Amino acid sequence: MSLLSALSIVCGLMLHVCFSADYTRYTVPRKTVPLQNEQKLFREEGIFNYSTMLMREDLGVMLLGAREAIYALDINNISLRKAAVYWRVTEEKQRECMYKGKQAEVECRNYIRTLHTLNDTTMYVCGTNAFSPTCDYLTFANGQLRLEGKQEEGKGKCPFDPFQRYSSLMVGSDLYSATSINFLGSEPVVLRSSNLALRTEFKSSWLSEPNFVYMDFVGESFDSPDGDDDKVYMFFSENAMEYDFYSKVAVSRVARVCKGDMGGQRTLQRKWTSFLKARLDCSFPEPSLPPIVQDVFLLKHKDWRKSVFYAVFTPQSSLSQVSAVCAYSMSAIRDIFNEGKFKTPVAVETSHVKWVMYTGEVPVPRPGACINNTVRKMGMNRSLDLPDKTLQFIRDRPLMDEAVRPLTGGPLLVKNGALLTRIVVDSVLALDGQRYNVMFIGTENGYIQKAVNYAEEMFIIEEIQLYENPEPISILRLSSSKGQLYAGSEFGAVQMPVSNCSRYETCVDCILARDPYCAWDFSTEQCSSVNSLSSSSKAVIQSLKEGDVSQCPQPDPVAAVDFALIPGNNIQLSCQLHSNLAQVRWRFSEQTLHSNHKYYIYSGGLLILSASKSDAGLYTCDSVERINGRTYNRTVAVYHLQLYSGPAVGDGPTPGTAVTNSSDSIHTLNTAAPGPVPDSGNEDPLSPENQRGTGRVTYLEVAVALLALFCFSLMGVIFWMWNRERWECFKFAQSSSECDGKKQSAEYSANNNHSAVDFKGNGEHHFTPMANISSLDGLGYINDESEI
Ligand SMILES: *[C@@H]1O[C@H](CO)[C@@H](O)[C@H](O)[C@H]1NC(C)=O
Ligand SMILES: *[C@@H]1O[C@H](CO)[C@@H](O)[C@H](O)[C@H]1NC(C)=O
Ligand SMILES: *[C@@H]1O[C@H](CO)[C@@H](O)[C@H](O)[C@H]1NC(C)=O
Ligand SMILES: *[C@@H]1O[C@H](CO)[C@@H](O)[C@H](O)[C@H]1NC(C)=O
Ligand SMILES: *[C@@H]1O[C@H](CO)[C@@H](O)[C@H](O)[C@H]1NC(C)=O
Ligand SMILES: *[C@@H]1O[C@H](CO)[C@@H](O)[C@H](O)[C@H]1NC(C)=O
Ligand SMILES: *[C@@H]1O[C@H](CO)[C@@H](O)[C@H](O)[C@H]1NC(C)=O
Ligand SMILES: *[C@@H]1O[C@H](CO)[C@@H](O)[C@H](O)[C@H]1NC(C)=O
Repeated sequence: MSLLSALSIVCGLMLHVCFSADYTRYTVPRKTVPLQNEQKLFREEGIFNYSTMLMREDLGVMLLGAREAIYALDINNISLRKAAVYWRVTEEKQRECMYKGKQAEVECRNYIRTLHTLNDTTMYVCGTNAFSPTCDYLTFANGQLRLEGKQEEGKGKCPFDPFQRYSSLMVGSDLYSATSINFLGSEPVVLRSSNLALRTEFKSSWLSEPNFVYMDFVGESFDSPDGDDDKVYMFFSENAMEYDFYSKVAVSRVARVCKGDMGGQRTLQRKWTSFLKARLDCSFPEPSLPPIVQDVFLLKHKDWRKSVFYAVFTPQSSLSQVSAVCAYSMSAIRDIFNEGKFKTPVAVETSHVKWVMYTGEVPVPRPGACINNTVRKMGMNRSLDLPDKTLQFIRDRPLMDEAVRPLTGGPLLVKNGALLTRIVVDSVLALDGQRYNVMFIGTENGYIQKAVNYAEEMFIIEEIQLYENPEPISILRLSSSKGQLYAGSEFGAVQMPVSNCSRYETCVDCILARDPYCAWDFSTEQCSSVNSLSSSSKAVIQSLKEGDVSQCPQPDPVAAVDFALIPGNNIQLSCQLHSNLAQVRWRFSEQTLHSNHKYYIYSGGLLILSASKSDAGLYTCDSVERINGRTYNRTVAVYHLQLYSGPAVGDGPTPGTAVTNSSDSIHTLNTAAPGPVPDSGNEDPLSPENQRGTGRVTYLEVAVALLALFCFSLMGVIFWMWNRERWECFKFAQSSSECDGKKQSAEYSANNNHSAVDFKGNGEHHFTPMANISSLDGLGYINDESEI
């Protein structure tokens, strides 16, 4: 066994442990579902930026807005296009836009942004229209999409700049929009376009370089004993005014306005009298600048007081790769706006202003409050009747003192790796009669994380790959009634079901998945959707919080697979675990194996280096999964290694051949094959990818392998120096397993295959091919000293 191979293993382990130790606290998806073959995808040649969606379940279509096109797609299968309409910029508009210094092919196009329902047949649509926002009416009737050609000014309803975040909402026939109202994008506005148009004051205390992400309506007047008004809530990030920092710091905000607001009579004429904002708190597990809200979803409840806002946050600094989801109760937000203290600016030095809690007397009626019965009794029926004192107060102090705290005190989910971009949440009725809120979170590399929080336990049921290439998910919509999710990106729109229980083939798989949509049905012996089960069916089980499999039948024992042992060869036994959260345990004659100079345990199996006669015997691969404090062990594979009694190594049939049954997934690594390329005849069970290993070793290949080793070593040293305190863990590489616990959930980058080392969630490291030569092959070559 060469020094180099040993070195590479030590190096790899060091690297792995160093990386993983930092990330153990961050959730790893239990399963990774790769791209499905029969995916429902929509894209049209030459059209990009599929980032606006409007669900019209009543019409059976999903309206999709892209760059210069709007489609009506079958809501059950978005691959089926029912109609399309194109809205291209005119040459004149494009020329004007170019003169103003914008890029013709990217910015001077018409990006469809606003798409809202007006009535059964008519929609309202706005596009950036080459930095000249324009709106129009769109109809879908008799299977045809048609732009009415009644173009209207889109300023303030839709951004000029297609790269700027924005948000809008249609309430009745009033359009609420949050965007910039000028070409430069420097004048932010929250606008209501209606008979009585209202907007925000253009003051940095109201909005300071905001990034609007979301808006929704809450019907608070419903069943309100106080005669309260309906409200529109909006979420954005902006420059902080409440922190003393040398540089600009962004904070996340929630703000709201009252639906019945009509502005003030003298003060705040045609401006919101009810614009209040508060900071959103979502504390990350490590100290950092305030995180930035990226998307929000309102999980509506019949009783609006029980509605919950779910928000995705990403770090402000690009150095961090940790995102989080925090949830906020409607009532917590409401309490802060209705009863909280205000912040007020005070001049501390000649030019500097500090925002502190306002402790003086607050005018009556309360500034920023909607008109309610109490105020009506005071003779004020409309915001126009409010006294100047109240209006002046709110004009100068729109910020609440207290931040809104998350429902559970902290994040519901913390995720390391590809940043989270968009979120939708479905409320699922499980077998136990309880509702569980399942989060579907899009990432910047084209995956959906399906997660649920069971009594403070962050759990990602699975991550599902939606796009072949890692592209950010820029819009996500849910149809709860159809059980479908719709995602959009620059290159296309994709549809996926909220669950696919048939992915779980056994009872144990089904239960351990802890997916509230799925339950094991004893009568059909299938993992089935809870919805599809007949209510009378008693023979179904689910164990969401505990993941208790005790009711499942004992799985059949795993049959041993015979395997050839050729002394001196490296032997690779494969073992694929069902879960990223499981750890692998290899046993040989009732002894647990650890990675050391002889054994090399990686995500896909076990490598026995330079096997000898004494290695013959029974090898068992167990999956050990911890679920909520309980361990569940199961045997995944058993191999029976027998001494190969064929011709001597080097002559005759290919060495490294399994004796009898050769499954595709099993092979020995042929490392000691000198001389010419062995004939890969019929009797050669090696898979093509491994046949490469039997070929003649070229100097180039050796060089690449050596280079790879050198890189690993170098990275290992760098990380050691970077964080010496982890030295303890390096001992693991030699012998001890004291860091086993820490290995558990490695940085998870199944989707990030650019690196040479791929950290799999099950805690074992796994080398991905570099320049088409895996380091395992590399080991083999180096063993073959006669060739070097
Ligand atoms: C969806 O529509 C596409 C395009 O017509 C079709 O090829 C595909 O089979 C459909 N998929 C399903 C599941 O119906
Ligand atoms: C829908 O709204 C449009 C625009 O306001 C209007 O012209 C049309 O008559 C309405 N249609 C129906 C069926 O109400
Ligand atoms: C639209 O998609 C194109 C093609 O990928 C990309 O170059 C462009 O930046 C996208 N524009 C926006 C506004 O996302
Ligand atoms: C009604 O509005 C007044 C003043 O704006 C406020 O003080 C009061 O709390 C509100 N009443 C209720 C029951 O919310
Ligand atoms: C407010 O409305 C009530 C009932 O609608 C009416 O009696 C009262 O005169 C109104 N007050 C003002 C100042 O308009
Ligand atoms: C569900 O998963 C099974 C097994 O992976 C697959 O064959 C099937 O196509 C999937 N169904 C859907 C609707 O994605
Ligand atoms: C190996 O093959 C023999 C027949 O060739 C078969 O009887 C036996 O079941 C196989 N064993 C395994 C583990 O597949
Ligand atoms: C499962 O495996 C773990 C780790 O090897 C061991 O500590 C535990 O006792 C096993 N549990 C059962 C029930 O076999």
